[in-house]
Amino acid sequence: MKLYFAVVLGLFLAACATGGAAIPEPESAGAKLFLTKCTVCHSWPHPARHSAGEWDHYLDLMETEMEKRKMAFAKNDKESIRAYLHKHAR
Ligand code: HEC
Repeated sequence: MKLYFAVVLGLFLAACATGGAAIPEPESAGAKLFLTKCTVCHSWPHPARHSAGEWDHYLDLMETEMEKRKMAFAKNDKESIRAYLHKHAR
């Protein structure tokens, strides 16, 4: 009974942390980069929340946000994250 409660609580907390949906391909390089670079200022938005075109728009917007805070955003990193988001876009 105790174990059951712990498992249910664990699942509940995991669901809260991710907004209810797990990240696609969590072991991929793209996902790891996305989780590193895109959680500094806010929690990660689910890739399926936006279309590929919308992601292009947001990536440029986020690059500007990072420039404002003097944060590095390498071209390679931006393109890897773009490829990852496009693959799992809405
Ligand atoms: C330097 C801080 C910073 C980093 C790093 C950052 N963001 Fe943001 N992000 C913001 C701010 C500030 C807003 C709100 C902007 C607004 O509403 O005008 C925002 C809003 C967003 C939004 C729109 C709101 C929403 O929830 O749909 C998306 C999507 C987003 N960010 C995605 C990303 C992605 C993808 C990355 C990684 C490439 C990223 N962000 C990294 C600061 C950041």
